[in-house]
Amino acid sequence: MQKIVILTGAGISAESGLGTFRDEGGLWSQHRIEDVATPEGFARDPALVQGFYNARRAQAVDARPNPAHEALARLQRDWPGEVVIVTQNVDDLHEKGGARDVLHMHGTLAGALCGACGHRWSAPAEMAVGETCPECNAPRARPDVVWFGEMPYHMDEIFAHLQEATLFAAIGTSGQVYPAAAFVEEAVGAHRVELNLEPSAAVSRFDETRFGPASRTVPDWVEEVLARG
Ligand code: OAD
Repeated sequence: MQKIVILTGAGISAESGLGTFRDEGGLWSQHRIEDVATPEGFARDPALVQGFYNARRAQAVDARPNPAHEALARLQRDWPGEVVIVTQNVDDLHEKGGARDVLHMHGTLAGALCGACGHRWSAPAEMAVGETCPECNAPRARPDVVWFGEMPYHMDEIFAHLQEATLFAAIGTSGQVYPAAAFVEEAVGAHRVELNLEPSAAVSRFDETRFGPASRTVPDWVEEVLARG
C-alpha cells in the first residue's frame, strides 16, 4: 500500500498569520537564536525566553488553519493508504484543520516540560519563570519545545516512516535546519516533491517542485494525488 510522508515547516502557517523564521522580517531577524532557542539562552535569561514563547503561544491560540492545513487533513481522511504528517511547527494548526497523529518533531507550544525530571503537562497560557513541576516540584518549568542543541522528538519513528514512503512532500520549509533538511535523502524509495513559496536550500534533492503560497499549491496538489490514486 502506498505511504505518503509529509514534512511541514513555518511556511504552511504563514497565511494563518504566524511568522516564519528566515523570511524577511521573520522571527530570527527580530530575536537571536542563541538567546531564545537554546538551553544556554534559557539558563542565562529565563524571563526573556518565557516571554518569547508566551507571545508565540498567545498568537497560536488565536490562529485559524488555512486551506493548506485543511487539504492535508483531507488527504489523510481520503487516501486509502497511510498519510504521516511530520511538522517542525510548534503551533496546532494541523490538528485544528482536522489532521490526526501529527508528529511534532520540535515539540508544541501547548506543552510544558520539567527541566529537572522530564515530566510533561499542559502549558498555561502564560508560563512564569520558576513555575514548579506538578510531579517533582522543581521550579524548572519550560516550554515543551526543542531548542538548538537538543534532540528532536520521534526521530526513530520518523526515519522508519521515511524508509517506507512512496511519496514524500516537504511543504513550507527552508531546508536549512537538520535533521529535517535531510529527510528528503532518507526517503530513498519515494517520489519527492517540494511545495514552497520559492526554491528552498534543498531544492535540487527533489524530483518535482511547485512554487507559490501553500494555501493554493497544497490543495491543488492534494486534489491531484487523490485523483491519481
Ligand atoms: P523558515 O522560516 O526557515 O522557512 C520558511 C519557508 O517557508 C521558506 O522557505 C519560505 O520561502 C516559505 N514560505 C513562506 N511563506 C510561505 C507560504 N505562504 N507558502 C509556502 N511557503 C512559504 O522555517 P522552517 O523551515 O520551518 O526550529 O524552519 C525550521 C526550523 O528553524 C523551525 O522549526 C525552528 C527554526 O529555527 C527551532 O526553533 C528548533
